[in-house]
Amino acid sequence: MRVGSISLLDFRSYSETELEFAEGLTAIVGPNGHGKTNLLEAVGYVAGLGSFRGAADAALIRDGTPAAVIRCSGQGAAGRAVLIEVELARTRPNRVRVNQQPVARRRDLLGVLTATAFSPEDLELVKGEPSVRRRWMDDALAAVRPSWGALRGELDRILRQRNTLLRQAQGRAVGDVAVTLDVWDAKLAAVGDELRARRRDLLEAMTPEIARHYRGISQGQDDAGVRYESSWGDESLADALAASRREDLRRAASTVGPHRDDVVCEIGGLPARSHASQGEQRSLALALRLAVDGEVRRWRGIEPVMLLDDVFSELDAGRAAALLEALPSGQRILTTASPVLPAKIRPDQLIRVLDGAARTAGDG
Ligand SMILES: Nc1ncnc2c1ncn2[C@@H]1O[C@H](COP(=O)(O)OP(=O)(O)O)[C@@H](O)[C@H]1O
Ligand SMILES: [Mg+2]
Repeated sequence: MRVGSISLLDFRSYSETELEFAEGLTAIVGPNGHGKTNLLEAVGYVAGLGSFRGAADAALIRDGTPAAVIRCSGQGAAGRAVLIEVELARTRPNRVRVNQQPVARRRDLLGVLTATAFSPEDLELVKGEPSVRRRWMDDALAAVRPSWGALRGELDRILRQRNTLLRQAQGRAVGDVAVTLDVWDAKLAAVGDELRARRRDLLEAMTPEIARHYRGISQGQDDAGVRYESSWGDESLADALAASRREDLRRAASTVGPHRDDVVCEIGGLPARSHASQGEQRSLALALRLAVDGEVRRWRGIEPVMLLDDVFSELDAGRAAALLEALPSGQRILTTASPVLPAKIRPDQLIRVLDGAARTAGDG
C-alpha cells in the first residue's frame, strides 16, 4: 500500500493535522525537536502497530489528552482505496479499523501497510546487546513470512514455564518435576530447533545482500560480514538440553536455546560491535535494514514504504548519496534537520515542520 495522506488527532505534539505524501519522495524538514519524527512515527505505527523508536503507546498520546487517532488513507493492491484508522486510548484497548471494519487481531492488520523504517536508534543493531539482534532477526522472519513470526512468541511462552519449573525444583529434578521438565524440554527443543533453522536460513540468504549494501554505502572501503552464533553446537537442541540439565537446575535458568544466540557482525574481519567507528556501524545498520527490506520484497512481492528518520545526519555526503542510490523503488518519506538537503535529494513533496505545526510546502 502507498500512503496518500495521514491525519492526526492528539498524536504526540500534534493536536490536529493533516498531510499528503508524494508517490515518490517526500522530505520532512525542520529544526530539531519540532515534530518531524512524530509524523514519521505515525506512519510507522499504522504499519506495525508500534513505535519504531520503541516508545510505549502511552507516550504517543498527546500530553493531557485521553486518546490519539491516526487516519491513514492510500492505495492498496490494484489501486483500491484503503483507509486505516487507529485509536490509542489511555484507559481502554486500542481500536483498529480497515475500511470501516474493526480489526480484531494484530496480525490481521500486518500486511495491509508494510513499511521499512530506518532510525538513529538502529545503531544499536550493531552496537547493542545480542537481544537487539535477536529481535531484529525475529522481526525479519515475521515480516518475510507472518507464520514464522509466531515462533518467537511460542519460544518465550515455553521458556517462562520451563524457568518457573527450574526455580521450583530448587536444584533437583526428581519425580514429577523431572517428568514435567522432560515435557518442557521436548517443546523447547521442537520450537528452538525450528527457530534457529529459520534464522540461519534467512541470515544466510541475506549475507551477500548485507555485504553488497555495505560496500555500496561505504563506497567499497571494507567488507562486512555476518554470521549466526548459536549457544549450542550442531547437535539437536534436545541433546543440548539434556547435556545442560544439571547446569540449568543449578542456575535455575535455561542456558541454551535460540534466546541465547547472537548474530555476529564484522567489518574488515573485526567485530563491528567493539571495533568499528560510529559511521561504519551506522552504515552496517542501514545495510541490515536494507537486506530485510529486500527479502520482504522478494518473498511477498510488495514494495514496503521506506521511512528514513534522520539517516543523513551522521553520514558524510558521499555515503548519504550512496544510500539514496541503494534505496529500492517505491515510496520514501524522510526527515532531516539539515537546512540544505544532500545534493542528490530532490523531493517530490516537501513538508515543513516548525513550532509543532506541519504544512505541505509543495515540490522541493
Ligand atoms: N505525547 C506527547 N505529547 C506532547 N508533546 C510530545 C509528546 N511526545 C513528544 N512530544 C514533543 O514532540 C517534540 C519532539 O518531536 P520529534 O518529532 O521527536 O522532533 P524532531 O523534529 O527532532 O524529529 C518534543 O517537543 C516533545 O516534547
Ligand atoms: Mg527526529
